[in-house]
Amino acid sequence: MVNAEDITGLFGAQLSSIRDERIRAQVVATWVEAAREGGWQTVEELRAMPFTLLTKTHGISLVEHTIAVTAGARALARAQEESYAQMPYRVNHDRLIAGGLLHDVGKLVETEKDEKGGFKKSRKGMYARHPISGAIIAAKCGLPGDIVNTIACHAKEGEGAPKVLETVLIHQADFATFDPLVMLEKGQLIDQPC
Ligand SMILES: [Fe+2]
Repeated sequence: MVNAEDITGLFGAQLSSIRDERIRAQVVATWVEAAREGGWQTVEELRAMPFTLLTKTHGISLVEHTIAVTAGARALARAQEESYAQMPYRVNHDRLIAGGLLHDVGKLVETEKDEKGGFKKSRKGMYARHPISGAIIAAKCGLPGDIVNTIACHAKEGEGAPKVLETVLIHQADFATFDPLVMLEKGQLIDQPC
């Protein structure tokens, strides 16, 4: 079984930047619960998961993607905080880091192993995409509605919906990692080897 220590081992650096102890513990609990619901037994299995089934990932794992998106969203926040004389809105950094770490946690129930050693969409994944399943698990683990918003609305489910600022930053960081891979696949990424 994947436990809290395993999750802290994966995301220790990011988790330690969350100031609110309770939020930090709830983020870890959400990953543990999602791993349980998805039937993942070991942290090695989690490390092996690709971050998407929608395009070739070039070996980028869900764990690496989660770290990259969290870092990207934080950098987008910092860029504004350091460049504007006056911020028109306030960044909630705990919410931003928690949301970055959790935005794709639903993929643990959306994805399962296939018969050939690869991965496929699960039955649960057909019922509800990862933004929905992730939001449900996070809410079940006690996370507040604003952090649930970062999960529920980070992808197409959030189009046109009200969002906290941090959801917008996570969405942009997420698609900055996803779109180039899709373009690479389609031969639309200029000057990159295919
Ligand atoms: Fe993502």
